[in-house]
Amino acid sequence: MSGITKSFPGVRALDGVDLEVRPGEVHCLLGQNGAGKSTLIKVLAGAHQPDDGTITWQGEEVTLRSPIAAMSLGIATIYQELDLVEHLSVAENVFLGHEPTSAGFVVRARAARAQAGRLLARLGHPEIDPGTLVGQLSAAHQQIVSMARALSHDVKLIVMDEPSAALDPDEVDNLFRIVGDLTADGVAVVYISHRLEEIRRIGDRVTVLKDGRAVAGGLPAESTPTSQVVSLMTGRNVAYVFPERPGAARDAPDVVLSVENLSREGEFDHLDLEIRAGEIVGLAGLVGSGRSEILETVYGARKPTTGQVSVGGAPVRPGSVRAAVRAGIGLAPEERKAQALLMLESVTRNVSVSSMSRFSRGGWLERGKERAAAHAATRELSLRPDNPEAYIRTLSGGNQQKAVLARWLLRGCRVLLLDEPTRGVDVGARAELYSVIRRLADDGLAVLLVSSEVPEVLGLADRVLVLREGAVVHTAPARELDESRVLDLVMEGSPTP
Ligand SMILES: Nc1ncnc2c1ncn2[C@@H]1O[C@H](COP(=O)(O)OP(=O)(O)OP(=O)(O)O)[C@@H](O)[C@H]1O
Ligand SMILES: [Mg+2]
Repeated sequence: MSGITKSFPGVRALDGVDLEVRPGEVHCLLGQNGAGKSTLIKVLAGAHQPDDGTITWQGEEVTLRSPIAAMSLGIATIYQELDLVEHLSVAENVFLGHEPTSAGFVVRARAARAQAGRLLARLGHPEIDPGTLVGQLSAAHQQIVSMARALSHDVKLIVMDEPSAALDPDEVDNLFRIVGDLTADGVAVVYISHRLEEIRRIGDRVTVLKDGRAVAGGLPAESTPTSQVVSLMTGRNVAYVFPERPGAARDAPDVVLSVENLSREGEFDHLDLEIRAGEIVGLAGLVGSGRSEILETVYGARKPTTGQVSVGGAPVRPGSVRAAVRAGIGLAPEERKAQALLMLESVTRNVSVSSMSRFSRGGWLERGKERAAAHAATRELSLRPDNPEAYIRTLSGGNQQKAVLARWLLRGCRVLLLDEPTRGVDVGARAELYSVIRRLADDGLAVLLVSSEVPEVLGLADRVLVLREGAVVHTAPARELDESRVLDLVMEGSPTP
């Protein structure tokens, strides 16, 4: 790709970007939220038409008028926001638009299932049933389906936009094995991730985007120091920077959230937990260990089999989101697009939606007040673009995440449940988010944090609960744990006496 330029109303997303990818390499694309990574790969996928610039494929200049045109050259893309059809089966999604051709419908459907099954097995997931509806699969499994769809074509280049964001360490290993197999066959991979250690593990070369320009092209992944990559991306020297924990001097503040004997059949058992004002408690565990289910149950979106949640000593009616929200519980969920965002609305409305009663007077909506309050919250998180009227769907993935957090910032809840709050958020903005979360705690909130990134839990939380298969196997102050200890506990820890 050479000199690629692409503007949207009011933003120049790409400004003369060059990208050169060779057969059999893993080419990493790095950059902060909004730098233009997803836009660049959408141009490569034929989903966006560039305003200027050329694409040369195997020595010949090509115009990719549509995703089908890109696909037929052998360019497949796994998008950041997965684009599967939830009410179709796995097999139907894999072959959408290019069903295996043979006689009748029944024969075709059977052939599609068999082929999909083979692809899923090759991807290390023979247990996914090609007949299941995609909407019923976990995020991690949906991504495998998306990958199977890419491989159902004869691919020469496969683009992955933050594929590891939804995966736990085991699944990341599986993904890297797949990438290894593909590149060994000469397939080129363009890989986008905010996790710099992944780039080290699988990257061959690195291109860094900043504000729509390539500030470095094709650096060797192995020998370029992380500090150099970070400063190219941000113009600063930040990696993981965590805010300081407050001193332990204060006398024990009041318990805000208390969870007693909470269970849900088959998901998690007998959870006891107290969080005091000002405290951040982290839940560490693999995907499937019950982390998200616990948050959703505390939030009332799932009904517990046993147990009680209380806020400030007052019991909250189980299984009712309304009761939970009224008691002051807020949740920033894991799947932001499906669960949290109003894709057709502005940034302002997405931020204000949970606080609307504050902006209505006598049945009228005070739009000016709504906009000003939402804007204050998004500014605090450095959301880009700094335009309250922008449609949320036009924001980059990381900035959409910031909008969800701004919503809870604005709502002023007493208990904040954060499920993977920095998924897809770039290195620079992470540090900002961490300090916002700490500040919220300092203001007296109780925070319950779930993250697959162990350093994040250890760096941000005061206290950590380690979960395995739905049970707490260890509890300790974060400063007494380190990453390898947590990983040991997560995999095969023995319960604390
Ligand atoms: N359809 C669109 N309409 C308007 N603006 C858009 C659209 N798509 C992207 N943009 C803007 O283009 C810029 C680049 O966005 P892009 O999604 O490419 O960023 P990114 O590097 O993938 O970021 P992230 O790491 O957060 O996913 C951003 O300012 C974004 O708001
Ligand atoms: Mg993106």
